[in-house]
Amino acid sequence: MRHALTLAALLIVTTSSAIAADQPDKFKWTSEKFALVASGNAKTGEEIAAQNRCKKCHNEDGVSDDAEIPTIAGQRATYLYKQLTDFHIGRREEEDMTKAAKKLDEQDMIHLAAFYQQQERPQMVGGDAPLVVKVCDSCHNEEIVEEDNNIEVAPILKGQNRQYLENTMQAFKQRERANDLFVRMQSVTHKLTDQEIKQLARYYGTTDPE
Ligand code: HEC
Ligand code: HEC
Repeated sequence: MRHALTLAALLIVTTSSAIAADQPDKFKWTSEKFALVASGNAKTGEEIAAQNRCKKCHNEDGVSDDAEIPTIAGQRATYLYKQLTDFHIGRREEEDMTKAAKKLDEQDMIHLAAFYQQQERPQMVGGDAPLVVKVCDSCHNEEIVEEDNNIEVAPILKGQNRQYLENTMQAFKQRERANDLFVRMQSVTHKLTDQEIKQLARYYGTTDPE
């Protein structure tokens, strides 16, 4: 039994890219799901955020002042909803967030997404733009209309916390974060050097928290 388990674990490790490719595809963006997210009520979301003490880590306004914590203010509701769902079911894992998301039901997540989308996002500071940003922006530009978006709802990067951007790109690169549909971000980051990741994080991000 013990032996079989070890073998199974080994198999999981050696075929992790295949699993990473399969698992996230269980989440599908459909017109029904877009409509569901659009039905979120920001006021109700504000109350749910208060009950769940999201501000303990994300602050009242959703703007992070901690290098390890992302800003969620002004992010697309669709993306926020998907991340909460992913933490809730364990497709994306991080101790604090997994704990916070476990307690939420689907309606909570829809309203929370509506609430944080409405909050004001910090400005991006900018900096030297590596050539590759053209590629990134083909999916990440906030002007992209979601309904025509067959690239499956990429989050807004501008104004995000720099250290978090770097951490989460590294997590995709190391395949510690594997909740991206069709392994899109895992493939993109795979080709980036650590230096490029730092530069991209600096470019898109806002000033570092004090
Ligand atoms: C104890 C601290 C803590 C609490 C409480 C908390 N979060 Fe988080 N949250 C985090 C951390 C840390 C991350 C980054 C996880 C990672 O690095 O993968 C995160 C990530 C997120 C993300 C993903 C953002 C992105 O850009 O991918 C969303 C959305 C989110 N939190 C929403 C919430 C909501 C809504 C609540 C309240 C129900 C909440 N969080 C409560 C710490 C917390
Ligand atoms: C083919 C489309 C596509 C391209 C090209 C792309 N991304 Fe992404 N990216 C996505 C999607 C979709 C997600 C959301 C994944 C998920 O569901 O968690 C994402 C997520 C991210 C995140 C996580 C943000 C957060 O708040 O946690 C970062 C950072 C990121 N991308 C950076 C980049 C950078 C930098 C580039 C260019 C080098 C790039 N991406 C190119 C589609 C793309």
